Amino acid sequence: MAEYAFSSSSPGPRRRAVVTGASAGIGEAFAERLARDQYDLILVARTRDRLETLAKRLVESRGIGVEVLPADLCQAADLRVVEEKLASDPTIDLLVNNAGFGNFGSVAELDVDRLEAEIRLNVLALVRLTSAALGPMVSRGRGAIINVSSMAGLQPTPFNATYGATKAFVNSFTEALYEELRGSGVRVQVLQPGFTHTEFQDRAGIDASKIPAVAWMEAGEVVDASLAALRRGDLICVPGGMNKAIAVVSGAMPRAVIRRISGAAAKRFGL
Ligand SMILES: NC(=O)c1ccc[n+]([C@@H]2O[C@H](COP(=O)([O-])OP(=O)(O)OC[C@H]3O[C@@H](n4cnc5c(N)ncnc54)[C@H](OP(=O)(O)O)[C@@H]3O)[C@@H](O)[C@H]2O)c1
Repeated sequence: MAEYAFSSSSPGPRRRAVVTGASAGIGEAFAERLARDQYDLILVARTRDRLETLAKRLVESRGIGVEVLPADLCQAADLRVVEEKLASDPTIDLLVNNAGFGNFGSVAELDVDRLEAEIRLNVLALVRLTSAALGPMVSRGRGAIINVSSMAGLQPTPFNATYGATKAFVNSFTEALYEELRGSGVRVQVLQPGFTHTEFQDRAGIDASKIPAVAWMEAGEVVDASLAALRRGDLICVPGGMNKAIAVVSGAMPRAVIRRISGAAAKRFGL
C-alpha cells in the first residue's frame, strides 16, 4: 500500500472528506460532488491507478487537494492505516463509508471466503473506520459520517442473503449511533440506494439487463440526494421517489410476505 498526494492551489481553511470505494460508482460520484463543493479529499480503494486518474482530474478541474490512499479494506493491515489516518487527523469533516460489494447466489453454493470478505468490507471496515473517525469529531463537536447501506437491508434478501444482512447491520448500527451522538454536533446518515448504474451488479454476478429500466438511478442522483439529506440533518436517506415508495410499501408488509416476494423477485430477475 502506498500513499500519493496531489496539491491544491487554493489557499485558506478547507473542509476535508474521506471517501472509501472512490475508484468507481457511487464513491466516485461522491468524490466528484464533494470536489465541486470545494472539499479536499482523501480517496480510498484498492485500484491505485483509477484513484490517481480521478485525483488528477479533480485537482485540475476543481483546484482542490487530493490524497490517494490505496488500501484493501478487507485486509487488517491496510484497514489499520486508514483507521490511523482518521484517528490522527483532526481536520477531517466528513467520512463516507461507501466501499462494499455483494455476491449473488445461494449460501449453499457460494464460496464462504467471498462471504467472509463481504462481511469484512461491508461491516467490519465500516465499524472500524466509523470508530476511528468519531474520536476527533466528537472532541471537536463537529463532523459527519455517511454510511452507504442499501434498500437490500430493509428485508431479508434470498440469493443475496449475506449482502442484505450486512446492510441490515449498517442500518441498525447507524440508527443507534444517531441516538448516541444526539447533541454531540456530529451527524450520521444511512444512505439506502436502490438499483444504481455502477459496477456493482457486474461484480456481484447479477445480470442487470433483467432489471426493469424504471428501477434504476444514476450514481450522481443518489449522491445529490444524500448530500441534500445531510444538509437537512436527516438520519435516513432513501434516494428517488420510486425507491421511497417501495420502502414504505415493503415496510408495511408482514415479514413472511416480503421475504417471499424478495425471493421470488431474485429468481425472476436473477437478482
Ligand atoms: N449500485 C447499486 O445498485 C447499489 C445499490 C445499493 C447500495 N449500493 C452500495 O453502494 C456502495 C458503492 O457501490 P457501487 O454501486 O458504487 O459499486 P462499484 O461501482 O462496484 O464500486 C465499489 C467501490 O468499492 C471499492 N472496493 C471494493 N472492494 C474493496 C476493498 N476490499 N477495499 C477497498 N475498496 C473496495 C471498489 O474499488 P476497487 O475495486 O478499486 O477496490 C469501488 O471503488 C456499496 O456499499 C454498495 O453496497 C449499491
